[in-house]
Amino acid sequence: MAKTMRVGQLGHAVLAATIALALVQSPAHAQKSAENAANAVTPAAASPAAAEPAPAAAPTAAAPAATTPLDPFAHGTVQAGATKAAVCSACHGPNGNSANPEWPRLAGQSAIYIAQQLRLFRSGTRANPIMKPLAAGLSDQDISDLAVYYQAQTVSGLEADPSYWKAGSDLYRRGDKARDIPACIACHGPVGRGNIVGGYPALRAQESVYVVKQLNDYASGARYTGTNVTSADPNSVMMLTIAKRLTPEDIRNVASYVQGMR
Ligand code: HEC
Ligand code: HEC
Repeated sequence: MAKTMRVGQLGHAVLAATIALALVQSPAHAQKSAENAANAVTPAAASPAAAEPAPAAAPTAAAPAATTPLDPFAHGTVQAGATKAAVCSACHGPNGNSANPEWPRLAGQSAIYIAQQLRLFRSGTRANPIMKPLAAGLSDQDISDLAVYYQAQTVSGLEADPSYWKAGSDLYRRGDKARDIPACIACHGPVGRGNIVGGYPALRAQESVYVVKQLNDYASGARYTGTNVTSADPNSVMMLTIAKRLTPEDIRNVASYVQGMR
């Protein structure tokens, strides 16, 4: 089933990458995004050495995409993930539907994105004092199992704040050309499901408090640490650039909007 979804999403990945490219402004950023677009279309080719130093299984012609350590579908099972998720549900909620606004929802999140983020927590590149020690104890197998388990869960009901979501919806769907802000929809999708193959995260029903914190953390640089952030996580380039252009009002509005998305 997971394989079917991935193949089915490929066209979408190409489309999102193309739209993302079209929206890019400066040549330097365009080049970065071109790399990202390539990664998005073929995540297996996205330099496993950068994000995953340990197994060092550089993909060869003989090793097809499905066997790279970055691909949780090739290694993980939902059943094993369900057991391992017991410790996580204390914060992320039963089935990944967290009830605390500071703890992100993981239900229905892209498994590729989850696996990537758990590796980034584990290596300390994603700076979070709560998640780092938790991720430090996870093996690659644990990460794959947890990632496919959470992607298989169904996200459930939060609402948008009625005062803000309309402005948030405009920004999400159209961006703001005058300020070089691309439309979020290009990468996060019309209903906020993200892009499963590219590992672009789903935002739908995400806790708005958490979303505000992440956008501020991208803008300030606090989400990731180290000098090699963009090689450890090539996908980070996009949000590190975009978030700096958002005002506090933009962030509040769009966070409210995505919280109500399904
Ligand atoms: C004590 C509470 C707590 C526990 C237990 C916990 N987490 Fe987290 N988790 C957090 C917090 C808080 C964040 C947000 C960190 C930030 O603000 O950057 C987070 C973020 C994450 C993210 C990033 C989500 C995103 O959208 O980027 C993933 C993936 C994740 N946790 C997975 C797990 C897994 C898997 C486990 C179990 C092994 C786990 N967490 C256990 C509190 C917890
Ligand atoms: C060019 C593609 C692209 C566009 C356009 C884009 N994003 Fe993102 N977004 C990403 C990618 C890729 C990530 C994951 C980055 C990483 O690895 O840290 C991400 C991550 C995020 C996160 C963190 C999610 C989490 O679970 O922690 C938020 C919040 C977010 N984006 C909001 C937005 C908003 C709001 C907009 C529009 C103003 C937007 N994005 C536009 C590609 C994009």
